[in-house]
Amino acid sequence: MVVGEAPGADEDRRGVPFIGAAGQLLTRMLDAIDLPRDRVYICNTLKCRPPGNRTPEPTEIAACLPYLRLQIEMVRPKIILALGAPAAKTLLDSREGITRLRGRVFPRYGAKVVPSFHPAYLLRNASAKRPAWEDLKLVRRLLDGSPP
Ligand code: URA
Repeated sequence: MVVGEAPGADEDRRGVPFIGAAGQLLTRMLDAIDLPRDRVYICNTLKCRPPGNRTPEPTEIAACLPYLRLQIEMVRPKIILALGAPAAKTLLDSREGITRLRGRVFPRYGAKVVPSFHPAYLLRNASAKRPAWEDLKLVRRLLDGSPP
C-alpha cells in the first residue's frame, strides 16, 4: 500500500490518486522494484485537495484519518510506503520530520510502515533520489522476506 499526502488538481478532477507528474514518477519507482502499479493499493492521507494545494492542516488530517484507517483495515497490506511528512507523521503519530523517519521500518496496523520522500519532493530535489532508492530497495527486501 502507498499512502501519499492529498490529491492534486488532476487527481481531484478524475478521482484517481497519483496520476500527475508525481504519480508518473511513483509508477516508475514501483516498476524499479518490480512492483507493477496495479498490484499496489494507492491512496492519500487527505481525501480531497486542500485549497491552493497547501499542506494539510491537523484538523483536516484528523477528519480523514478514520477513512484511512478503514482502508488499511480492508486492504490489510504487508507494507505501507508512507510518502512525505504528512503521511509518515500521521501513520506513525510522530512529530519527527521525514528526513529522520525515512530509512527505517515501523511495525504498525499489522503492517510494516516504511516512510520515504514524496515523489513531488524528488522532482524538485535530485539529491533526495538516492536515499529514496534505498527506501524502495528496503521495501523490495521486506516483500521478499529478506532481512531489512
Ligand atoms: N500527491 C499526492 O500526495 N497524492 C496524489 O494523489 C497526487 C499527488
